[in-house]
Amino acid sequence: MSQSRPPLSKAADRRYPGGGLILAIESSCDETAAAVVERGRRILSSIVASQIAIHAPYGGVVPELASREHLRNIVPVVRAALDKAGVGLPDLDAIAVTEGPGLAGALLVGVAYAKSLAFALGKPLIGVNHLQGHIHAVLLAQGETLNESYARSLALVVSGGHTHLYLVRRDMTREEDGGFHYRNVGATLDDAAGEAFDKVAKLLGLGYPGGPWIDALAPHGDPSSVAFTLTQVKQKAHRPGLPRSEHRFPFSFSGVKTAVLRFVQIHDLYPSIERRREALSALDMASPSDALPLCDAKTLGLIASFQRAVVDDLKRKTFQAAEALGAEIILVSGGVAANRELRERFTAEAKRCNLPIAFPSVALSTDNAAMIGAAAWPKLLAGGLAPLDLTADPRLALGGAASGHVPAPALKGATP
Ligand code: KG4
Ligand code: ZN
Repeated sequence: MSQSRPPLSKAADRRYPGGGLILAIESSCDETAAAVVERGRRILSSIVASQIAIHAPYGGVVPELASREHLRNIVPVVRAALDKAGVGLPDLDAIAVTEGPGLAGALLVGVAYAKSLAFALGKPLIGVNHLQGHIHAVLLAQGETLNESYARSLALVVSGGHTHLYLVRRDMTREEDGGFHYRNVGATLDDAAGEAFDKVAKLLGLGYPGGPWIDALAPHGDPSSVAFTLTQVKQKAHRPGLPRSEHRFPFSFSGVKTAVLRFVQIHDLYPSIERRREALSALDMASPSDALPLCDAKTLGLIASFQRAVVDDLKRKTFQAAEALGAEIILVSGGVAANRELRERFTAEAKRCNLPIAFPSVALSTDNAAMIGAAAWPKLLAGGLAPLDLTADPRLALGGAASGHVPAPALKGATP
């Protein structure tokens, strides 16, 4: 199943005897992050300034506030990353930055800062796709073995802005992507999975972002108490004889979100939601354990059933895709990959199918800059540098798109 293959370029690797140090910057949504990563493998520092407290009162990311906070945070965050790594600007071999997809104003802060730094220091600049960063977070967490052992991986990137399946292949001719070829084989047609978590949590009067709240409360409810069926988009995945290149695995999460709303209406949960919202907002730093005594069995059952439905849908399509496309390993990343039920159920299914599976650590699952540094390293080796007129691209796609739909995370969680 696994093959041994030479690293991308041993000779190119040796060009950086000083350490192959990349300063990476990430500002695509509501986290300002900077990291120093050595040779794409060792994290010397990873600083994340979260804006959760700023956006929480709105129940979602407010783009203008996000840009303003990035402007405020970018200099101290980069400084902290360099200090923690014990590295000076002259020691760096390159500057990497997320160029998209994401919020335009938020991306621009990171891109403009990285460009200025690269220009002033005369260092190479590398533009990284945020989704590519999430995929490399798994490789970073698992080490070089994984990076080089599998010729065909299936990556599920599941976050607040994205629900994408990629077939990832090693391809030495793809210089600009550092020897990786990405083919998008599935995407959400409406909400991203994390967005559904955030919106359902908001509807139920829980905190923001909603994923960790639902994750923590779900084990206290009965996941079979509400029968949700997720919208199944017609797909060509299983017609016998269909070439692999035509397999598609679309997702849709807006239906289950509406089903939760209907349940709330039919069972008139509004008064108890309002009581919960008020009680939690009166607390200084409310956490899911504060919400538990404020949720009755019906609400906990609703939460558990919602999570089970979303996780099972993600699991079913990911494993269908892995089988249909002949993947040798499944990689799962993005904020929702931090979900405990998702990790348990994916791991159990992988065991059943005798298929390796890998997740990043929880800290590397959500947005961070170390993953951008990891994705930038093979690009640096391959000479895939960005021009100094690099600009932010809010809808930047990764690889060939199956559906062509790159959801803009502009109002992640902020709309019903
Ligand atoms: O990757 P990320 O930090 O940012 C984006 O690129 O979107 O993902 C954030 C998303 C949010 O929607 C958040 O609710 C969700 O990931 N999330 C979770 C968990 N932790 C974060 N969803 C379910 N369970 C979790 N434990
Ligand atoms: Zn992300």
